[in-house]
Amino acid sequence: MSATYKRTLVTSALPYANGPVHIGHLAGCYLPSDIFVRYKRSKGEDVMFICGSDEHGVPITIKAKKEGVSPQDVVDKYHKMMGDSFKEFGISFDIYSRTSNKIHHETASDFFKTLYDKGVFTEEITEQYYDEEAKQFLADRYITGTCPKCANPNAYGDQCEKCGSTLNATELIDPKSTLSGSKPVLKETKNWFLPLDKLQPKIQAYLDQHKDWKTNVYGQCKSWLDSGDGLQPRAMTRDLDWGVPVPVKGAEGKVLYVWFDAPIGYISATKELRPNDWELYWKDKETRLIHFIGKDNIVFHCIIFPAMLMEHGDFILADNVPANEFLNLEGDKISTSRNWAVWLHEYLIDFKDKQDVLRYTLCSNAPETKDNDFTWADFQTKNNSELVAILGNFVNRTLVLTHKYYNGSVPSADTYTKEDLLILEQLSAFPDKISAAIEQFKFREALAEMMNLARLGNKYLAETEPWKLIKTDEQRVKTIMNIALQITCNLAIVCEPFIPFTSNKLFHMLNMPVLKWHAAKTVTVIPPAKPETSFDDFSKMDIRTGTILEAERVPKTDKLLKLKIDTGIDVRTVVSGIAEWYKPEDIIGQQVSMLVNLAPRKIKGIESQGMILMASNSKGELSFIAATKPDFNNGSEIK
Ligand code: MF3
Ligand code: ZN
Repeated sequence: MSATYKRTLVTSALPYANGPVHIGHLAGCYLPSDIFVRYKRSKGEDVMFICGSDEHGVPITIKAKKEGVSPQDVVDKYHKMMGDSFKEFGISFDIYSRTSNKIHHETASDFFKTLYDKGVFTEEITEQYYDEEAKQFLADRYITGTCPKCANPNAYGDQCEKCGSTLNATELIDPKSTLSGSKPVLKETKNWFLPLDKLQPKIQAYLDQHKDWKTNVYGQCKSWLDSGDGLQPRAMTRDLDWGVPVPVKGAEGKVLYVWFDAPIGYISATKELRPNDWELYWKDKETRLIHFIGKDNIVFHCIIFPAMLMEHGDFILADNVPANEFLNLEGDKISTSRNWAVWLHEYLIDFKDKQDVLRYTLCSNAPETKDNDFTWADFQTKNNSELVAILGNFVNRTLVLTHKYYNGSVPSADTYTKEDLLILEQLSAFPDKISAAIEQFKFREALAEMMNLARLGNKYLAETEPWKLIKTDEQRVKTIMNIALQITCNLAIVCEPFIPFTSNKLFHMLNMPVLKWHAAKTVTVIPPAKPETSFDDFSKMDIRTGTILEAERVPKTDKLLKLKIDTGIDVRTVVSGIAEWYKPEDIIGQQVSMLVNLAPRKIKGIESQGMILMASNSKGELSFIAATKPDFNNGSEIK
């Protein structure tokens, strides 16, 4: 992604309002998109998150028939149910709209009209399957048969979910009406087609600019373009009575193809949310459009919808389409009709206030590169061995000890040890690692890094054992607990996209306002001021400027240099722990500040007659401090 984008528009596939939300939906696109959007919001970026119910198409009318109610009853029931459960699960859409809205009917209708007026469609009379018992045409899912590409016996009239091919009903082998089970007959009818065959070069050029897409997505697109005769014209209208009416003369009783109107739903929902500036999100080149979808939606989002947008003109096209593969349940394909699913609304009742356990499990098993499996055993392990045993344990110990030792207030750190500095350095690397993974849509990896930060915290507590040290070294325990609290605070920030309910609780327990992503990085540690001292005490120190005359390594040590220093008063030998930062040959002639009245001490058998003063930063690096005017002689007093 280029850095020139000013805003991001994130869409998540509009689910059919023909049944409740299940874990397959969540893992496929709603959870990844929510993680992405929450992260962007935490970064302070301009981002908009769009979704809603897909209320047209055969999936709805089939369901209505089954339940013996009207299609409108079906969508009313499931639109509410899905919207409520998404909300309770923490999927943070800026809007959850629906395609039966007036604004959507108008938008989709106008869109069709624009293409029609531009002469984009071809008008064709073709033979379509018709059910003589039910007295209606059999579009899309009203017909099943064997897929001509992969021999799946349960392919639909518009798509084979097994191999992902888009199909025309007439291509199916052994077609059957799902209404009556009878063998359909062919009957002539007029429809309007999007000539994808003619548009192929433009689509090809668009996809060529996006070789960076996930390999599963790019690969699928490529195989359609390259297969046999390439793309085929596709009817954008249907002989059905449920949907957006086709707004042209001679199309009475016909509706728009559901895959024509549904993606336009993203636009209508944006209009509904931002009536005054929605165009900024759809027409400004500085907007980045990202579609989160499941793999069965790839052709519609990567080929057909972009083709519609191109032919309409004015609109931006998706910059990325991070589609996931499928999630299975206990080794078996999730199926609404066989009732083989974990339904979100039921989960939310059975596991009240445990949204994050499911969010965590689904993210850590997300089918990002291949189909994956959800099992209850794994759900339990993820909860017990990771969320509780690692994250919960670390946070809990930190907060309990803080309450016990300091009445809940944050102790100041004193001197950092080498180990402390190492931990702080590791800590400061986490936010960027997690960012990088999220930006690449690698949510599993990002989540694993988040948990690694909690592991780091546990390791630190296990190694420093503040609960033992409190008896002998209270000062040291303050520093340890300060660092443990810094880690906890960072965890609260970086876990928010994945497990927002937990993040909220953490900030609450820390008694802190909710902090954003940028706050996570700033762990440059400034040691707190030491206790007051008197001028008299200070003036006892005899500090002088000097110059290094000779330098050599102290044998068998890594850190020590033996220096000869001209102090102005005399020439001294000083053993100094600076070998990690300076090479002996580089410091001959270096001016230094030196404490000259420090009592001599033996270091590695060498008598050290004084100490050089060095600046030390939060990483433990050392630097000389001396910058006098060039004509200052050695032995000048520092006071
Ligand atoms: N309703 C479709 C499905 O569940 C997805 C529609 S996505 C949109 O597979 F782009 F059309 F909105
Ligand atoms: Zn197939």
